[in-house]
Formats: sequence, structure tokens, C-alpha cells
Amino acid sequence: MATMQLTPEQQSILDGAKGETLAKVMKTLVMYGEAFGATKMVPVTSEKGHLVTSFGLKAMGAVYELMDQLIEAGAVSGQQFSVDPKPMDPNVPASFLEKFVFNKFMYTRQNSYDEQLRKMGLLNDDAYTCACYLEEVGNVPKKGEVLSWAESSAVVFANSVYGARCSRNSGIIELFGSIVGYVPYFGLVTDEGRKATWIVEIKTEKMPEAQVLGSAIGMKVLDAVPYIKGLDQWIGTELNGTAKAYLKDFGAATASNGAVGLYHVENLTPEAVEQGESLIAEGAQTYVIDDAELQRVMDNYPVIWKDPDATPKLCFIGCPHLTYDQLVDWTEKVEAGLKESGRSKVAIPTVFTTPPAVKEKFEKTPYADRLKATGVILSYICPLMYMNNPLAGKKPVITNSNKLRTYTSARYYTNAEILNYITKGEK
Ligand code: F3S
Repeated sequence: MATMQLTPEQQSILDGAKGETLAKVMKTLVMYGEAFGATKMVPVTSEKGHLVTSFGLKAMGAVYELMDQLIEAGAVSGQQFSVDPKPMDPNVPASFLEKFVFNKFMYTRQNSYDEQLRKMGLLNDDAYTCACYLEEVGNVPKKGEVLSWAESSAVVFANSVYGARCSRNSGIIELFGSIVGYVPYFGLVTDEGRKATWIVEIKTEKMPEAQVLGSAIGMKVLDAVPYIKGLDQWIGTELNGTAKAYLKDFGAATASNGAVGLYHVENLTPEAVEQGESLIAEGAQTYVIDDAELQRVMDNYPVIWKDPDATPKLCFIGCPHLTYDQLVDWTEKVEAGLKESGRSKVAIPTVFTTPPAVKEKFEKTPYADRLKATGVILSYICPLMYMNNPLAGKKPVITNSNKLRTYTSARYYTNAEILNYITKGEK
């Protein structure tokens, strides 16, 4: 069956030289690669891995059995890894019924799964976040490194902003790559696969909302690589904290509203700076985005609340998790908004989500008390996991995350609208 050329070392693993379990892991990766036309396997060269499956969902019995088998066979990850955010946090508001459902029917395996993750190579107990690539978390990939990750928002960030190389893998496949130390060579791992088949021209009169721009591009180019022109006039030509935070939110929207795994931003992202327009493939299509196009995209988001006129009951900000600077910025904006409206606390329950390590850093600063005084709750939770139950669909939740909007009943609002909602009680 094999059309893939394996090295003697890879072949010997496949043949069972390192045990039956590792042979099965290798076989799975080879079959996965062949399905995508991979010609060879290449070594995973990043220091750390990242797993998407962070939740001990009762229904995932097969995953826990697999983890037990791997641990018993000593087939643990060859690299330490971070993992997506936890699905529960006692500080996040939930009704009695919701808590009952979470604890008794959904995430019943959380503690035992956490234990399995530790045995498999979890970086540390604070390593639960999708924004693993933030410096505070310590899983920052380097340019050219080959990764075995699957979290779509992290893959697109690592590929685009750091110039790392990673396919849009699925959960468990990424763990297998970290165990065996090889991934199939196809798509975004190859030079050819990193060429842009879409040119996106930004012609807006004002700074495009990151999450709407990402949504528009994702829906248009689907899983292709876009080369984006004209964004540097809004976010600059330096990959500083502000530009990275913008690209984090933008990228997550491209990856969830479409299936983008890599984008190039002219004069900004590393490959675009180095190679310029030579990154654009022959025959690339063009998509022009102006303010009217962004408005059209937003106007087409369906409202799937049971009562479209309901008053929001909860607001989530931080999907993907917020950076430290974003937390400070939101704290100041909420304070200013409350001052303007004459309120002392936010008008609707509001949760900011951030990596545990960023939360710890933030909590050591005076901003922590200032944020607390506004009534906003700071959490490490994944809002999507929180809303991943039948009860959540009945709750009118608002968010500035286009990923959360895509996968749940949460309703999207721009940053300015969200700020108004939480500080003034209206859009
Ligand atoms: Fe992160 Fe969960 Fe959103 S993994 S991107 S906070 S859906």
C-alpha cells in the first residue's frame, strides 16, 4: 500500500522494532499522510507539542482507553506539550442545572483525563490554553520548525506569524506525531503548499475589525492560503504585541469561519517580508474587501437565539484567550465606559478568558483589583466548551469571537458594540 518513502528508522518503527503500540501509531500517521498525498515523513523539530483535546468528556471513552494503552506501552509524547483550555471553571456563572449537567453528565472524566495528560507529557498544570504561543505560556515555535499541533487557532498563528510549519491536523493525530517524532510531509509543511492562491486587497476607510476581516477571508478562500495586501497600513509593519494580538484574533476567525491554516500579510509576516509577491502562486484569484463588504458579511450572520430580542445573559471576551496587553486594554475601556454611563458594575455578567499564566501575571498587578471592581470575571475557561451543551442554546450569550459565534448559539458583536452592551446595557 505504501506510496510513501520511509527512512530505515521510520520503517523499523512501522515494523515493530519499538513495540507494537508505536508501530500502530506510526501506521496511523502513514495512512493519514497517504490520504493527503504525502511522499515522506519528516521529523517534528519544535521543542514542544500542543494537544487540542483538553476536556474529560464522558462520551469520549475510546480516547481514555487509547491513552491508557499508550501510557502502559510507554508510548508517551517525545516532547512536552501544552493543551487547549479547560471546559470548566467554578468562577464562571452557571445555573444549578448547568453545573449539574457539567459535573454529572459531561465532564465527568476531567480529573482522570488530566492525570493521563500529565503522564503523557503535559508541560505543567498551567499549560491549558489555546494561546500556547504566548511568551508567558512558553510554547513559542521558531521559524521553519515542524510542528505536530491541531488547534486551528494555534496552527494558523504558528504558521503565519512565526513561520513554523504545521498541517491542520485533527485531534489525536497531533498526539501521535509528538509520540513518534514524525509527521507526514504535505500541504503547509511544504514550500509549495505555503504559496498563496488568493490575493486579498484591503481597501477599507477604517481599521477592519480583526474578527470580521478574518471571517470574511475564511468564508471566501476556505482552506486556501491568502496573501493579504493593505493590512499593514492599519496594523503596521512590525510584529509587536498589538499586531500579534490582532493577528491572533484575525487568524482564529479565518480558521473557524473557513479552514485557513496559513496567511501571509504583506510587509508584516515573516515569509511575506522575505519573499514578497513571489509567494503568490500563478493564477491566484483576487478578493477585494472594503467597509461595505465587511458590513455585508456581518449582516449575514444568522441569529439563532430562541428569542432574537432577548436581553443578553452572559458575555464572553477572549476566544482565543486574551494576551496580557489585551486584558489591560479591556480593563481600561470597561472602566471608562462605566464612568461614562454612571454605573459601577458591568450591566451583564461578563467573562474575560486568558491563559492561566497570563491570569497569574495580571493578578499581580493593580489592574486585577480594578477589573474585579467592574464586576468582570477573569477565567481560564474555553467558552466553547462551556457552551457545548443543550442548555447553553437557550441562553442569550454575546461575544466578540467569531469562532464562538460559528460553533455555538452565541451572537457576535464588534468590540465597540460589546463594550457598549457591558457598560451601558445596550448596543
Ligand atoms: Fe480557544 Fe476555546 Fe476559543 S480553544 S479559540 S477559547 S473555542
